Amino acid sequence: MHYYIIIKLVEEANFAIKTAKNINQLNEVRTRYFGKKGKLTLPLKQIIKLNPFDKPIIGEAINKTKKTLYKRLKVHNAKLYKETINNKIAKEKIDVTLPGKGSENIGNFHPITRSLKRIKNIFKNLGFTSIYGPEIEDEFHNFEALNMPRKHPARAMHDTFYFNENYMLRSHTSSIMIRSIEKQNPPLKIFSSGKVYRCDSDLNHSPMFHQVEGLLVDEVVSFSDLKGAIEIFIKVFFEGQKIEVRFRPSYFPFTEPSAEIDVRINYSRDWLEVIGCGMIQHNILKRLNINPKFKGFAFGIGAERLTMLRYGIKDLRTLFNNDLRTWR
Ligand code: FA5
Ligand code: MG
Repeated sequence: MHYYIIIKLVEEANFAIKTAKNINQLNEVRTRYFGKKGKLTLPLKQIIKLNPFDKPIIGEAINKTKKTLYKRLKVHNAKLYKETINNKIAKEKIDVTLPGKGSENIGNFHPITRSLKRIKNIFKNLGFTSIYGPEIEDEFHNFEALNMPRKHPARAMHDTFYFNENYMLRSHTSSIMIRSIEKQNPPLKIFSSGKVYRCDSDLNHSPMFHQVEGLLVDEVVSFSDLKGAIEIFIKVFFEGQKIEVRFRPSYFPFTEPSAEIDVRINYSRDWLEVIGCGMIQHNILKRLNINPKFKGFAFGIGAERLTMLRYGIKDLRTLFNNDLRTWR
């Protein structure tokens, strides 16, 4: 092997590195000269064949050259890489009008869940404590303790789903009234929310719906306290919306006096009943051995009705049809 061949090869490689226009071309150069069977690799292996005087001198010179060349290749490679990226970025355009990936499938809270959260928050802020009550209720807590013994005509107000004579799906959350008084002595300031069931279905009724029951038992409690609490609640719940509220005298076997609250939104729709309430009947507290100095008020809020008003839903059953297009 002649020394000049090496020099020529080095010159050639140098030129090839300098003139490579892109990463691909440079990679070719790398394989052509530095690869396993590269033009520079093969002859360098032959250094071994040189005579012992030339070997170390030529060997060192060639190795140095090779290293310098390889360094140059790397530097050029980095430069080309940077150029490639910059070109790519310059060419890329972001179309902000395109829909985001999968954004159309992102879930959200159901309107009823949102209403329930809203209701609960308001009562928490008013100092009421949240408690739990079972959805499968017994005869005593759902009816009897609330002045509705068997065959009492008021039971017809709730078309109840019975399991048997003694157990049913609760038809209202008022059973909480009894359960909480049984558990804890007054003063009491509690609320409880959950599903209730009645054999009902039309524009304003569904067989399963949600109520939030509130209960306050203390020494000095009047109907005006009840009215105040409800008015504050409705005002905060419908914040930012134009509404009218009406207290309408009503009847519940477990309260006296009793009222139902109707709301009309934007002065356009008909009145819609949203809450039932009243002062707890004396004999209920008496039967539960509560000191007669205590009085109480209670209310039962219909979460679906409030949701209808807040979101302008005309048919309550829309909330349960699971058609996502409704909520677009
Ligand atoms: C009651 O259930 C009483 N327990 C309320 C109460 C509690 C009175 C405490 C006094 C003291 P009512 O049946 O009116 O009352 O129901 C209360 C609210 O639940 C109604 O105002 C309405 O907003 C809602 N509601 C009743 N039935 C349905 C139904 N089938 N679908 C959706 N919401 C309903
Ligand atoms: Mg009612």
